[in-house]
Amino acid sequence: MSLRVCILGAAAGGGLPQWNCGCENCCLARCGEIPAQTQSSVCVSTVNDSVALINASPDVRQQITTSPFLSPTGPRVSPIKSVLLTNGDIDHIAGLLSLREQQPFSLFATPEIHEILAANPILDALNSAYVKRSAVALNHPFELVTGVTATLYAVPGKVPLYLEGATVETQLEGEQTVGVHLTDGSSDAHYIPGCAALTPALRARLQGSDLVMFDGTLWQDDEMVTAGLSQKTGARMGHMSMSGATGSMAGFSNLEVAQKVFVHMNNTNPVLRPTSAQRAEAQSEGWAIGHDGMEISL
Ligand code: MLT
Ligand code: MN
Ligand code: ZN
Repeated sequence: MSLRVCILGAAAGGGLPQWNCGCENCCLARCGEIPAQTQSSVCVSTVNDSVALINASPDVRQQITTSPFLSPTGPRVSPIKSVLLTNGDIDHIAGLLSLREQQPFSLFATPEIHEILAANPILDALNSAYVKRSAVALNHPFELVTGVTATLYAVPGKVPLYLEGATVETQLEGEQTVGVHLTDGSSDAHYIPGCAALTPALRARLQGSDLVMFDGTLWQDDEMVTAGLSQKTGARMGHMSMSGATGSMAGFSNLEVAQKVFVHMNNTNPVLRPTSAQRAEAQSEGWAIGHDGMEISL
């Protein structure tokens, strides 16, 4: 038995290319010069007939269709038995609407994320006779899917964009943004698609693990601002950047982690271009750049 992870979607919200974006990366992806990437999701399993999706991306239908191991094996028999949410962001929950066709599965999230879902009546389309909503407390291991034990833990982040009030705490640590520890009892992995800061506690948690898939939203905190695409920095969006003294590459440089993979890349991130200097720099720091269809067996 081994722990199998597949990156279904390596891009952040919007994907690559994003529908309304004519930035360099989006244009290159649109004309096939660099690989397109769908929105943020991975799946995990130890056996073929029992797979968990972590996050339900708006692209989930395409992701399932292009992943043969996620094909149904009979009428209404999907290998997808669980869906786990790491926050309430649109790029992580909108795909739930595409999973509404009378298919039994367990929907795991923190109590706070479940409250957000419950407050959205459109999600009642997930028939409760089939979809079992299961609230998971932080730091309590649970069986996510056959052979996979998951533990959710708080990482610094913020509430979803659509719930932001007049003032926003961007490094909130609680139930709204979580990382996931995954283990089959012998190997382990962490999935952290959104993280505002690498705290000492988080560093200690990640030390020694076999695989960390980590927030790679932006290369540089102000890259969307300087590109003239947005007024928002990464910090304002609750995402730490890859580069710089307080970035994730520096933060991980003296951590022992066997495999480090960036996920949730925004379409402006230069590492999405296979020949960019920034990708070469990340790779020289021991990072792989996640991509759709990337499979890792531990
Ligand atoms: C994020 O990762 O910051 C969010 O997905 C942004 C959004 O909801 O558009
Ligand atoms: Mn996102
Ligand atoms: Zn773009």
